[in-house]
Amino acid sequence: MSFPRISAAEAAAIIKNGDSIGLSGFTPAGSPKAVTAELAKIAEAAHAKGEEFKVNVFTGASTGDSCDGVLTRAGAINYRAPYTTNSDFRSAVNKGLVKYSDIHLSQMAQQLRAGFLGPINVAIIEACAIEDNGRVYLTAAVGITPTVARMAEKVIIELNAAHSTSMMGLHDIYEIQLPPHNTPLMIEKPSDRVGTPYVEIDPKKIVGVVEVNLPDEARGFTDPDEITNQIGHNVVEFLVNDMKRGVIPSSFLPIQSGVGNIANAVLSALGNDPHIPVFQMYTEVIQDSVIALLQSGRISFGSTCSLSVTNGCLDEIYNNTSFYKDKLVLRPSEISNSPELAKRLGIIAMNTAIEADIYGNVNSTHICGTKMMNGIGGSGDFTRNAYISIFSCPSVAKNGAISAIVPMVSHIDHSEHSVHVIATEQGVADLRGKSPMERAKAVIENCAHPEYKQLLWDYLAMASKGHTSHNLEKAYAMHVALLNEGDMRKVKF
Ligand code: COA
Repeated sequence: MSFPRISAAEAAAIIKNGDSIGLSGFTPAGSPKAVTAELAKIAEAAHAKGEEFKVNVFTGASTGDSCDGVLTRAGAINYRAPYTTNSDFRSAVNKGLVKYSDIHLSQMAQQLRAGFLGPINVAIIEACAIEDNGRVYLTAAVGITPTVARMAEKVIIELNAAHSTSMMGLHDIYEIQLPPHNTPLMIEKPSDRVGTPYVEIDPKKIVGVVEVNLPDEARGFTDPDEITNQIGHNVVEFLVNDMKRGVIPSSFLPIQSGVGNIANAVLSALGNDPHIPVFQMYTEVIQDSVIALLQSGRISFGSTCSLSVTNGCLDEIYNNTSFYKDKLVLRPSEISNSPELAKRLGIIAMNTAIEADIYGNVNSTHICGTKMMNGIGGSGDFTRNAYISIFSCPSVAKNGAISAIVPMVSHIDHSEHSVHVIATEQGVADLRGKSPMERAKAVIENCAHPEYKQLLWDYLAMASKGHTSHNLEKAYAMHVALLNEGDMRKVKF
């Protein structure tokens, strides 16, 4: 059976107001680009006529602007889950215009499969190749594709010539079953495979193939600076010490590294430190720094859900797939982020905080407790189950007006029970095994910026004594100073 070739506009017309659409991809990597752009035009035309047109969007993680961006600007999203980084979407969410559910990435496929989020009407899957029997070869990411492709009533394939067919073979596709039928994932090391290199889709559901040639809309990174380099150095020094005293085996443990500028810089520092042995990654996102370290031999294997790399870097992979085929595997997000595997493989999780409090609670998602930044992503999947969980961030933001170390975080994504280590450019607080008061002293002493240290000591001194000492009237005084006067340093305790 050969599938009909249709235009992106014809494909978008299949989607109706109120539908739920499931998308391939994880970050802008592997996300559909053409059909969603046409869908936005349909929504705009309907709105111009005074008609309602909104859809629910389910993805693996963030997408590119031709998905989250255009659909948001067209007012076409009713509900979306999970993680996103698009600034227009962020702004719409914070104005209450879009319903957003920030679900742990490892749980997205299972929540869909279980029916928590309703049915999926149409799946849009980006592919580099499709066979007549319905075998579909994905591109730079997997995300929740196996689940949405199986659940959707109709499937549209975006066959994207910008992705090389040399990708075929890099993916390991396996869909976990619902309880009580799920079985252990037999992955004992990052390079183990449990599935097939393709997604098997019922050919009867494939309503059309849209041929496109559109590159991924990858984000670049700011170059590491003095601060991010120092954070990287501090994290590496901490890990080397743990290795020297035998807490981390001399063969090292698989690394998970988060998204963003800081994560990229920390990973580069780890890869370039001669005291750290060649290591492996078991992570959800591989950024440019990992590819460079695979080339230099400092990383021997990378298991990921997504090649969230710049286009030049992706071309390098496509031009040398014979080199990468035994060094990379792309998995569904529920396997790349599996809590079961994070625990069993003994992952060292390295993620980024927006703010951390003196007791080790971490906020990764909300500015001043109310405004959504991006979302929790996979940081919870890994942090809660890691062998060692590390959060890094600069000690201050916005030229010192904001301290990343606060008396009480304004939103909690990762509680003190899951956070083992906090690192800033000032130093590292090792919170393992410490009581709340010991943690507070370690965080203030080692991680706070000098301009905020005394303020934090002052807060601790005025806190009502208890197992976890706090002064509930003053706990958010620094945040209030930021909101009212634009600077936490103006706090009056
Ligand atoms: N208050 C207000 N703004 C703050 C802030 C704070 N306490 N801390 C940081 N920011 C701002 C920065 O100033 C910067 O703003 P800008 O874009 O206007 O310059 C922005 O937040 C991003 O911070 P940056 O220092 O560049 O870090 P980053 O790019 O590494 O991103 C997170 C940090 C926390 C937003 C990002 O890592 C994230 O979304 N994490 C959650 C998901 C996750 O951890 N996934 C990991 C699994 S892969």
